[in-house]
Amino acid sequence: MRINPRDMLEKINALLEELEQLTAQKKEEVEEYRIRFLSKKGAITALFDDFKAVPNDLKREMGQKLNHLRDIAQTKINTLKEQFEGNETQVSPTFDLSAPALPVFQMGARHPLSIVKNEIISIFSKIGFTISEGREIEDDWHNFSALNTPENHPARDMQDTFYVSLNPELVLRTQTSSVQVHIMENQKPPIRTLSPGRVYRNEAISARAHCQFHQVEGLFIDEKVSFADLKQTLLYFAKEMFGEETKIRLRPSYFPFTEPSAEMDISCTLCKGAGCNVCKHTGWVEILGCGMVDPQVLENCGIDSAKYKGFAFGMGIERITMLKYQMKDLRLFFENDVRVIKQFTAAEK
Ligand code: DAH
Repeated sequence: MRINPRDMLEKINALLEELEQLTAQKKEEVEEYRIRFLSKKGAITALFDDFKAVPNDLKREMGQKLNHLRDIAQTKINTLKEQFEGNETQVSPTFDLSAPALPVFQMGARHPLSIVKNEIISIFSKIGFTISEGREIEDDWHNFSALNTPENHPARDMQDTFYVSLNPELVLRTQTSSVQVHIMENQKPPIRTLSPGRVYRNEAISARAHCQFHQVEGLFIDEKVSFADLKQTLLYFAKEMFGEETKIRLRPSYFPFTEPSAEMDISCTLCKGAGCNVCKHTGWVEILGCGMVDPQVLENCGIDSAKYKGFAFGMGIERITMLKYQMKDLRLFFENDVRVIKQFTAAEK
């Protein structure tokens, strides 16, 4: 009879799992387990019989697994038995803290947002961007005022802010643009950095919005930086991330900290520009905001705006991930259902 090694492995894993769950309230139960697993007609003995038909090249590996299974079963049964020794009437808890640890069966998987974040980082590292991280609890200056958004500025309404109630000066950062300010305050140009991180907004949770999400901020400051540099950098990113055939377009927009400002669309990844539900039949989808750093922001952070110029951009990691993997519900990212998360393992580079 031919033996399918995969079936055998499945059986071994199922038995290991069963063994791990095993508990006993009575001595007789332990004896039943011994018979079920290790006696002449037991499940493990049956596997050893099957083992004879395993192809030679797999014998070594399969043999080790089987021996391991038998050892685990023996140890488990001994441990269960010991509880009843010396005290025949006592019903004791089934924990034995000295028992050898059982192997971990369920391996986790990297979260899709981490996979995409790492991909973004790797794309920008290739063109010299460093990584910098800021803080999630931020003061008003770094999240707003230094970025040309003083109190009562209408642009604050674009971002529903969570204030830290003990101190109205403190907010949960609403954007990773706050990291720009820290960097510019503390480093001398040239600066070329990427800041990934979690941000918060007081939004109702739905398929398209959440009160926490992730952004990546990019900042480039040097003596001669132009809008053309910004455009080429973002075109390079779009092609690396979504494929060589991807096109971009920049639409004029408004952000308080950039002038001029733009939003960038990429040609729809699903219909390649022909028009579909994802791009609402326009052929384009928006993926980020960007612009030339407003000279006033440079000055706010102690950088001479007569000498230096810069560009900045910011994007949502959830949005990029949803587009890349055609996901429709943002909430999936925060439920941590291993069945969802595991589907991305193959995407990891
Ligand atoms: N911070 C903006 C937001 O959360 C995104 C953004 C737009 C960042 C333009 C930038 C930029 O650096 O230049 O919506």
